[in-house]
Amino acid sequence: MNLIELIGRFHPVLVHLPIGIFVLVIVMDGLTKFEKFSYLSASIRLILGLGIVSAILSLVTGYTLSLEGSNNQDLVDTHQWTAIGTTSLFTAYYLLRQKLMAKQLAHSITLIFLLGMLAWTGHQGGSLTHGEGFLTEGMLEAKATTEQPLDIKDINQAVVYKDLVQYTLNQKCVQCHGAEKQKGKLRLDELSWIKAGGKNGNLINVNNPAEGELIKRILLDDIDEHHMPPKEKTQLTDAELAIFQWWINSGASFDKSVAALAPDAKVIKALASFKEENQKQVTSNKKIRASIEPLDKKRKEKLEKMGWVVSTIALDDYHIRLTGYNLEGTVKDAVDAAAEISDHIVELKLSFSALKDNDLSNLSKFKNIEKIWLDHTDISDISLKQVSALKDLEYLNIVSTNTTANGLRSMMQLPNLKMIYAQGTKITAEERDALKASQSNTKLYFGDSMKSAITDTLFTKKAE
Ligand code: HEC
Repeated sequence: MNLIELIGRFHPVLVHLPIGIFVLVIVMDGLTKFEKFSYLSASIRLILGLGIVSAILSLVTGYTLSLEGSNNQDLVDTHQWTAIGTTSLFTAYYLLRQKLMAKQLAHSITLIFLLGMLAWTGHQGGSLTHGEGFLTEGMLEAKATTEQPLDIKDINQAVVYKDLVQYTLNQKCVQCHGAEKQKGKLRLDELSWIKAGGKNGNLINVNNPAEGELIKRILLDDIDEHHMPPKEKTQLTDAELAIFQWWINSGASFDKSVAALAPDAKVIKALASFKEENQKQVTSNKKIRASIEPLDKKRKEKLEKMGWVVSTIALDDYHIRLTGYNLEGTVKDAVDAAAEISDHIVELKLSFSALKDNDLSNLSKFKNIEKIWLDHTDISDISLKQVSALKDLEYLNIVSTNTTANGLRSMMQLPNLKMIYAQGTKITAEERDALKASQSNTKLYFGDSMKSAITDTLFTKKAE
């Protein structure tokens, strides 16, 4: 990190100073209108002066920070100008305050206006660090972009980038790299953003395709912390991976059709399975929509009262994740209540809860669960027996529980189960090796990679 970068890094901390001081000035100035507080007036000039000095420092650090570049350059530019404007206005206020004080109404209006400018500037800065909509995110229902899967009729006519690559990015990447969030300062929702690249620059390396950041990230081992998408998220299928590699290696054209890029036998196979998956998605989305209603508000509130965190996942509000870190009553009651909306639930998190065996006796009703977290609880194989009713289950976490190799073996019969996290269970080292040797489609993790184990079970900051 060079000096310029170092100075820039102070900006997010430093900006709180002028914001705090200016708010204080406005409050104090407002109070001086009351006789009782008129004595405050004497100190305001000094405080306001300090505020202006700290605002100028924030402008300087902010400017150096902006030199690092951002994917949201437009917002950076606007933020820069509103910040300069706000600082100038406060400076003007410093100079004219005495005169304004004589005119009550004009003074009050000025204060309100200054407060508004301050809030606006601060909000822009917040949007740059937390992503646009960071204020409203929790308040509004998750935006339901009910994007229909595209219906590919003739795969040879499909445009590789738009119909296959971008389509996959929309499904599996854009929730973190889109208009709402720009993780790694990267957006993948439109061509221009993809061309702009992320925090580490270009995504696609035309001269040396294999070195491009995009392909490198998705090809990394899936327990590597830089692997994309992050391992707890829906992964790219083998077919999608093959199509991405083929697209990159053939020059990452943005307008050529499948036929024009002359797929070889392996890619043709991948394309066929991509199309098949795609058709399945089209029909299954139709099916889900036909058979269940969007989640009922009252039921949602009822669950929230019991301590469940209800969050929508994927792109619509039909599918939800229930998280029970802070359940009010017994886990059994909470799970039984959740069973009323079981069709909606695709992810169930009971990590670190007071979960005990037999609390999950109604689990078979949750036909659509794909991921379940039972880690750091007192459960044994009895609970696993109940879990084995979940035919769609893809992911299971039983870290730090009393489960044994027997219980785990029966889980591995589940047709769709891809990953089990099982360190800290009663499974012995020998049994691990035997299980690993026998593993079919299911990957077993026993804490071989501490990092993945930790990131997998710790709470994420935002109560998801
Ligand atoms: C759950 C959120 C999430 C999803 C989904 C996700 N990413 Fe990321 N991505 C991140 C985070 C966080 C970072 C920054 C940390 C890092 O660099 O590993 C990142 C960084 C990246 C970077 C590096 C950008 C740079 O220049 O440093 C690339 C490339 C990337 N992601 C590609 C993808 C692709 C492709 C997908 C979909 C297949 C995807 N991501 C899905 C969260 C996500």
